[in-house]
Amino acid sequence: MKISEVKSLPRLSDLDDSNLVVFYNKSDGVYLTADIAKKEPGLAKYLENFFKKITKRQEKQDKQDKQGDGKNNSLGIHDFFYVGSSGDSYQGLLAGYKKEIDNLDVLRLGAKIAKRMLKQDLTKSHIILPVGELGNKSEHFFEGLGLASYHFSHYYSDKNRAPKLKEIVLVSKGGASSAEMPMKRVLVDSVNIARDCGNIAGNDFTPSHFKKRCAQLSLAGGLKFSVLDEKDFKKLGMGCFQAVAKGSAEPAFLNIMEYKPTKFKETLLLVGKGLTFDTGGYSLKPAGSMEEMKFDMCGGATVVGVMNLIATLKPKVRVVAMVATAENMISDKAYKPGDIFTAYNKKTIEVINTDAEGRLVLADSLAYGVDKYKPTAIIDLATLTGACVVALGKGHTGLFSNSKKLTKLVQVAAKEVGEHVWPLPIDDAFQEEIKSDYADLKNVGSRWGGASTAAKFLENFVDKTPWVHLDIAGTAWDSKNVDFYPSKGATGVGVRLLCQMLKDWQW
Ligand code: BES
Ligand code: ZN
Ligand code: ZN
Repeated sequence: MKISEVKSLPRLSDLDDSNLVVFYNKSDGVYLTADIAKKEPGLAKYLENFFKKITKRQEKQDKQDKQGDGKNNSLGIHDFFYVGSSGDSYQGLLAGYKKEIDNLDVLRLGAKIAKRMLKQDLTKSHIILPVGELGNKSEHFFEGLGLASYHFSHYYSDKNRAPKLKEIVLVSKGGASSAEMPMKRVLVDSVNIARDCGNIAGNDFTPSHFKKRCAQLSLAGGLKFSVLDEKDFKKLGMGCFQAVAKGSAEPAFLNIMEYKPTKFKETLLLVGKGLTFDTGGYSLKPAGSMEEMKFDMCGGATVVGVMNLIATLKPKVRVVAMVATAENMISDKAYKPGDIFTAYNKKTIEVINTDAEGRLVLADSLAYGVDKYKPTAIIDLATLTGACVVALGKGHTGLFSNSKKLTKLVQVAAKEVGEHVWPLPIDDAFQEEIKSDYADLKNVGSRWGGASTAAKFLENFVDKTPWVHLDIAGTAWDSKNVDFYPSKGATGVGVRLLCQMLKDWQW
């Protein structure tokens, strides 16, 4: 979506195939009416009457709010009003918002408007940013528009199936466009890059494709790029990664992208699960919804999205990003339940279930990353367990950690960007679950608390490094109830959270 900015209000007669969004709250509404009145008396009259009507409604709502939870939700950000277009040359959308509006409200408002616009049969839309509260937060509004106007239509042969809307024009009279805007542009692109990686079909996005993407982005952002292949896994003793990879004809890779500021104190290691397809292996998944397992690389996609932004963000911490890619398949070479492998840190692991493959590729990646880069802190992201989705649903990412300090940093960033993370336990009882009779560890425990056992398993590979594991199995795709994420397909969850954390990095 192209989102451009202009400073003056276009004549309505010039908006032939466009629509116009006018905001309303008590003060800004009046301003806008006056502004429009000069140019378009007909529309101004119409709006004036309209404002009168909704003012009454707002007063009623205010009264109810005062009796209720005390939060001023007057008009809400949910209300849309079509400005009647009968006989007129314009179509309009009137969006109300409450007086006290915070950054996330503005983001959501932008997102709601974008979603509504996508549904309309228009190629271009104009939005007038009022000068008040909303105008001051224009970069958040822009972010909401950008995040919610994403649509994946790559495979449609009939291009008319894709939303027609190609451009949104922000009219910001007072030069509302803030200094943060260029950064937000790259941020939105980065989230959308992560989404694209997730949405592309598994046959078009193998570990080799993923590697190419990592290499491209590294080159563009001036990052150091290196890659380990299966021969390296063997040489380095990464027996678990090798085991998962060997069932597929597609070669597996551990991609490593490094951002290094000239001066830095800490190193943050990011690790993403990048299973470009997960059949479950010999512990085969049922056919129902197996196609969803093309999204099993969303953790890796998030890491890639973050690294796309990093050259612009320029955080004061070294960031090493690892994207662990493989396909979990069945063949005469594939690993089997009962097999025992040795990980990079020499721990032996008995495979109980070949569908618990994510923790195996992550185990070797984490152990290798700790040894090679001696990170100050580690964050991994993975669509790791169905159990996490059962526990938390589609709106919350599971958070597991050995460090209160790092947990806090992640929680603060999450709150700031409106992503929900929820802490779950990894106490010693879970270690009992994964003790094997034949090896040091086994890759699954009992039926209960599966998200925590998976996380506990990973903890065995981070040594004592402060670490947070984010299980995004529920939040990485088909997000429900989040205005700024698509309800179908990859969400790009985690990109904004990590970028926020890096921006404010403090250890
Ligand atoms: N990629 C899946 C996790 C998953 C399942 C994500 C459903 C989203 C929706 C992972 O590799 C997996 O299959 N995990 C197993 C673990 C089990 C065998 C202990 C699971 O969750 O069923
Ligand atoms: Zn699996
Ligand atoms: Zn998986």
